[in-house]
Amino acid sequence: PTPTPTDSYTVSFAPVAANMNDTVTVPTGYTVDVLLKAGDSVETGTPYSGSFPTPADAEKWAGGNHDGMEYFDLSGVDANNGGLLALNFEYPDFNILMSGSYDPATATADQKKIALSAVGIGVVEIAKGSDGKWAVKAGSRFNKRYTGNSLYRAGGPAAGLLSASIKGMLNNCSSGRTPWGTYLTCEETTDNYLDPVQPENDYGWVVEIDPYQELAAPTKRTAMGRFSHENVAYMANADRRVAFYMGDDSTPGCIYKFIPDRAFSTANRAANIDLLDYGTLYVARFNGDGTGEWRALVQGQNGLIVGASDPGDVSQSTTPPAPATVNFANQADVLIKCQSAARVAGGTIMDRPEWITVAPDNSAVFVTLTNNSGRRVTDPANPRVTNRHGHIIKFKEEGNSPLATKFSWEIFLLAGDPALASGGANLVGDIKGDTFSSPDGIRIDPKGRLWVQTDHSIPGTSGVTGKSIEDIFGQNAMFYIDQTTKQSKRFLVGPKGCEITGLAYTPDLKTFFVNIQHPTGNWPVSGQQPRSSTIVVRRTDSQPVGN
Ligand code: FEO
Ligand code: CA
Ligand code: CA
Ligand code: CA
Repeated sequence: PTPTPTDSYTVSFAPVAANMNDTVTVPTGYTVDVLLKAGDSVETGTPYSGSFPTPADAEKWAGGNHDGMEYFDLSGVDANNGGLLALNFEYPDFNILMSGSYDPATATADQKKIALSAVGIGVVEIAKGSDGKWAVKAGSRFNKRYTGNSLYRAGGPAAGLLSASIKGMLNNCSSGRTPWGTYLTCEETTDNYLDPVQPENDYGWVVEIDPYQELAAPTKRTAMGRFSHENVAYMANADRRVAFYMGDDSTPGCIYKFIPDRAFSTANRAANIDLLDYGTLYVARFNGDGTGEWRALVQGQNGLIVGASDPGDVSQSTTPPAPATVNFANQADVLIKCQSAARVAGGTIMDRPEWITVAPDNSAVFVTLTNNSGRRVTDPANPRVTNRHGHIIKFKEEGNSPLATKFSWEIFLLAGDPALASGGANLVGDIKGDTFSSPDGIRIDPKGRLWVQTDHSIPGTSGVTGKSIEDIFGQNAMFYIDQTTKQSKRFLVGPKGCEITGLAYTPDLKTFFVNIQHPTGNWPVSGQQPRSSTIVVRRTDSQPVGN
């Protein structure tokens, strides 16, 4: 639905102060409701109520460490009042699953099953009640878990090197969607550390899942490369050609895009069923003059041959590592050994790329580089040694086209705080207004407003003797940033110990869904174990969030 002309999307909320409170803090005039806690029912069953689950129970629960998510509309339902929420579970909330710590080497078969139940994704049908509060529709046929125990298939050029029937996906960090209404969930690890007997090539992929359960079974899309995937954000043009942007949150890690060979179909949803299996993967190279280029990761091109020379991670030491010889005999080699291929092809090693977001008019792409305290060798796109607080890069595709092979770029902001000046310039940054460290989640909403979520570690060091990171920045938070003035306004502060991640919204932008990951205090239910949760943020006067 198109907002009425009287709607205003200027941002006028009163920023909240940094704090260490064990609650979700939002501006005056806003409310917070908890929608889905770890251990709540996704599929019909017995939810968490203080006791550890059986494997069968856990497989139906909402998993843990809620992360990226997407909201999908449902045929016949006003999307402002109801729809499907697909969300990632990055890691188990072990405190509600079993006693003691989890060690895959000594875990029982049941403990492994339970741990693997708590990762993956969930799809829930949700609806807004007459009181304005959102709730999961229990028993909906759309409510479904896809876990570390479920089976997945593989598509694309490297599929033959994966198991025919893959057990599980895990470390479902952030996510994205396709223009044809499927969910893309991203594995941020290339090995199954929860159950190490599984073949290594089976993990580290983007997995496509249809929340409506109409198209293909959940499929690991190998053409998009194997690395520590963070999220996926797409840019489409008027010809229905599309690029998918992705970050590799590792050290070293690069920025990628994947362009399917074919246009997507809006008339025939099923025609898109294998679109992500055929296309070209590129890695970004940021030149010192503000230009950039996308280099194809195609066997036989850009040095990707048998006997290729991988320079390794040249960012962590002023003494370069010895190059390694890597064989790229076919495209499957390139995709499986994607991080090495990216370095061979000349991709720029970034300060841990987390989320990427694309402006609604395709005029800009933003990437969070969360931090990289190990950086010793700088380049223009990663200009700070010991980059403890991270930065955000903005780039613009040539012609605002997803098919571009060239782009221009600038550093949008350097995170940090002037209060850290005694520790050195690299800790200060250039944020105007409310400062932060370690940007992670980033999303431009359909009205073009830029939101940033943080993941600084607690307890973390600020870089200044005697000051913890929370002395400076408070607990992790969510910010609105004006793209012209770069003025930052703190919108939401999370409870103790958490990371803020995941952002979805209804089309009218009156409902925001945000995830509170790994709280450590007494939230969300007083007197119970802390649980990762999806929250709903609304205005008490029912106007669009942020106005
Ligand atoms: Fe799971 Fe890179 O955050
Ligand atoms: Ca993240
Ligand atoms: Ca992070
Ligand atoms: Ca996390």
